[in-house]
Amino acid sequence: MLLPSLFHSKFSLRALFLIFVLLTHHTASYTIPQRSQASVSFSELAYNDDNHPTPKPPVHFAVLLPRGFSALDVFGPLEVFQALSRTGPNSPQLRLSFLARSLNEPVTTEPPFQVIPNNLSPKNNDNSDPYLHPKSTDNSTSTFPLPPRGFHARLLPTHTYSVPPQSIDVLLVPGGAAARSPDLGTEIEFIRAVFPKLQYLITICTGAGIAAQAGVLDGRRATTNKAAWGVITAMGREVRWVSPARWVDDGKVTAGIDLAFAFIKAKYPNGTAIAEDIAGHLEHTIIDDWRDDPWADYYGVPPQN
Ligand SMILES: *[C@@H]1O[C@H](CO)[C@@H](O)[C@H](O)[C@H]1NC(C)=O
Ligand SMILES: *[C@@H]1O[C@H](CO)[C@@H](O)[C@H](O)[C@H]1NC(C)=O
Repeated sequence: MLLPSLFHSKFSLRALFLIFVLLTHHTASYTIPQRSQASVSFSELAYNDDNHPTPKPPVHFAVLLPRGFSALDVFGPLEVFQALSRTGPNSPQLRLSFLARSLNEPVTTEPPFQVIPNNLSPKNNDNSDPYLHPKSTDNSTSTFPLPPRGFHARLLPTHTYSVPPQSIDVLLVPGGAAARSPDLGTEIEFIRAVFPKLQYLITICTGAGIAAQAGVLDGRRATTNKAAWGVITAMGREVRWVSPARWVDDGKVTAGIDLAFAFIKAKYPNGTAIAEDIAGHLEHTIIDDWRDDPWADYYGVPPQN
């Protein structure tokens, strides 16, 4: 599931920031229908099926790759944007960059350590699954050395944070175990530095926590994974966290793949038809209601914002 947020930049009226949150872990995200159009503010910015003059459609997507990123958070939305790039002769000429600390080695999805939220740890002594039935409001986490397992994907970056590509329009920040890493200083500094120059910021799932630590979500509406709500929202005390929300526009959060479709509908000419065409090829059902978020109730996150 994807939860996006769309923000007006304090730096430029034209700079809009879309925050997507992807609900991944413990959920069958791909079986849940996805949404596209959502909030009022989002629709105002949307291409009205190509008669509405809106900001230039974004061209250059860059994906932040912290160690321990969620593969789904990266490749779910990318599947959709890749399809956008090859819809036909009039496809937007998109560009894709992957950012990491070094070009010398691929970035792994394997976390540097195992992070167990304490409210999910085996404190449940009634045989219930602590992941599905968290009982505690303890938002802290415990880390454990990770046993070598080797069952992880690795992705080669194209650029480093110290020598990033020019003119990034959209920065996509995935979540995953990375969001709880104590070693995110380089990534956080990069987000803070590049944010004023972006057209949009998309955070997926717990990636909102990484962006929140950079302070760029302060005062904005955003959402995140409801199964990690306490931990992630604590990373941004000034963020207006929204629940329930599949994704958020102008401060709303959305689920990753749904968010990608919502983004295409809102930001590209003929976006609605293109999104529906892509969804058909992916056999994916688009959900249009950004508030359609069964996981808020499931994980006991009360309505807010
Ligand atoms: C944990 O997070 C929830 C939701 O944000 C909050 O209501 C609660 O007060 C937090 N608990 C602690 C101990 O910080
Ligand atoms: C809009 O997109 C659809 C799906 O890709 C395509 O069939 C149609 O020709 C497009 N219309 C215009 C006016 O570009």
